[in-house]
Amino acid sequence: MFVLGIETSCDETACSVVSKEGVWSDIIWSQTIHSEYGGVVPEIASRAHLDKIVTCTEAALQEAGLDKPDAVAATAGPGLKGALLVGFCYGKALAMGWKVPFIGVNHLEAHLLSALLEDPAPAFPFLSLVVSGGHTSLYLARELGVYETLGQTIDDAAGEAYDKLSRMMGKGYPGGPIVDKLAHQGAASIPFPRPRPKGKGRSRVAPEDRRALDMSFSGLKTAARYYLEKTPSWSAEDVSASFQAAVIDVLLDRIERGAKETGVRRVVIGGGVAANSGLRAALQERDYELFLPPRSRCTDNGSMIAHCGLLHLQQQRRTPLSETVRARWTPGAA
Ligand code: KG4
Ligand code: ZN
Repeated sequence: MFVLGIETSCDETACSVVSKEGVWSDIIWSQTIHSEYGGVVPEIASRAHLDKIVTCTEAALQEAGLDKPDAVAATAGPGLKGALLVGFCYGKALAMGWKVPFIGVNHLEAHLLSALLEDPAPAFPFLSLVVSGGHTSLYLARELGVYETLGQTIDDAAGEAYDKLSRMMGKGYPGGPIVDKLAHQGAASIPFPRPRPKGKGRSRVAPEDRRALDMSFSGLKTAARYYLEKTPSWSAEDVSASFQAAVIDVLLDRIERGAKETGVRRVVIGGGVAANSGLRAALQERDYELFLPPRSRCTDNGSMIAHCGLLHLQQQRRTPLSETVRARWTPGAA
C-alpha cells in the first residue's frame, strides 16, 4: 500500500510517499519568510501552504513514480488551524477524487512514532520524548494508538525556549539549530536554573492534568534574559552552551525518572529539538536501548505523517470526510 502523506500544521509544506517497504519520496518546502518576524505568522503560513501544496504533492508522486497512491494521510492536528486546513482539505479532496481511503493523522503521534520508520525499529513498549517548537512531552507508548503521558511542559516548549533565546541574542529563526551550533563554540559556565514546575502559578496545563514528570522552560528563558540584561560583555557562545546544558539536564532527568517509574529503558525521541547534537550525544552515553531517527526526520516532514497513517490504515482505521482539523489533540485520544 502506497500512502501519500501531507503535512501543513505549521511552517513546513511537506509531502511524501511511504509504503511498508520504506520511503519513496520526501519533499519539504520550508517557509523561510517567518524569519523576518522572529516566529511563525499563522496567516502567512496558511497562504504559503496554499501556494506550494499542489507542487509539493506532484513532486512527491513523481519522485515515487506514481500517478495516484492507494491512500491519503494528512495532518489533522494539533497545530495552526488555518495551516492545517490547507493540507487536510486538499488531502480529503484528493482521496475523494481518487476514490481511495483517507486518514487524518495526529502530528504528535507521528513524531512519537517516527523512529518506527527506521531499521531497526523499536518494539513496543518504549518511552518517547517528543520535543518540538510547540510541544515537549514524555510518553509511554504501549502499542499503536495507546500512549500514556508521563509528563509535559507546563509553559514554554523546549524548542520555543530555544527560539526565544536566539531572538534575545539578536540571532535568527528558527533558533534551535543556531543556538546548537553556538553552544559547541562556548563553555557551559553560566549556572542557569533547571526549573521544576511549581504546584501553583501560571501554567498552560490544567491542575488536574499536572504530573510528577512535568517540565518548565519559561524560568530558564527568563534567567537567560536577566543574564543578558545584566552582563554587557555576554558571549553568545557561552550563553548558548549554558542554556543547552540546562535544557539537556531537564530532558535527561525526566527520561531517567520515566524509565525508573515504568521499568522501560527502550527510548526514542522525535520533534525538532531531537535534532539537537548535544541532546543526541548525551543520550548516547546513557545505558538505554536508544532509537534516534535521523536529524532530517526529527523536524517536520511528510514521511512521518504518511507512515503513521499507513500504520493506522493497516488496522482498518479511516477518517470520515466529514471530519475537520483540531488545534489541540492529545495523541491516542479519540
Ligand atoms: O518538530 P518541529 O520541526 O516543528 C514543530 O512541530 O514545532 O520543531 C521545530 C523546533 C523549533 O523550535 C526549532 O528551533 C527546534 O525545533 N530545533 C532545534 C534544533 N533543530 C530544530 N532545537 C535545538 N537544536 C536543534 N538542532
Ligand atoms: Zn512537529
